[in-house]
Amino acid sequence: MDVHVDITCRDVSQTVKVRKGVGFQALSAKYKSGIEYDCRASDCGICAIKILSGHECLSAKTPAEADFLKAMGADDDERLACQTRILGDVKILIDYL
Ligand code: FES
Repeated sequence: MDVHVDITCRDVSQTVKVRKGVGFQALSAKYKSGIEYDCRASDCGICAIKILSGHECLSAKTPAEADFLKAMGADDDERLACQTRILGDVKILIDYL
């Protein structure tokens, strides 16, 4: 089953279709998403994204992701793309800091 991800970066939006359950890293490998990655292990925060809608359509935060987001003072609508799987239609904002 495919799901849709609406990505907005610097006022430019694109909607991409991915298989349910893939991670944002797989999405980024297939499309030019604009999401940047470094550690891929909840240690750097460069992959932070803001979820505009569809929070319930993402995998639950791992303890490491939750700890890191709390330490960086992230809002509830922020996630680490490197740790998040897409389970349904979502809208995200990147490059918002
Ligand atoms: S790439 Fe470092 S926290 Fe996601």
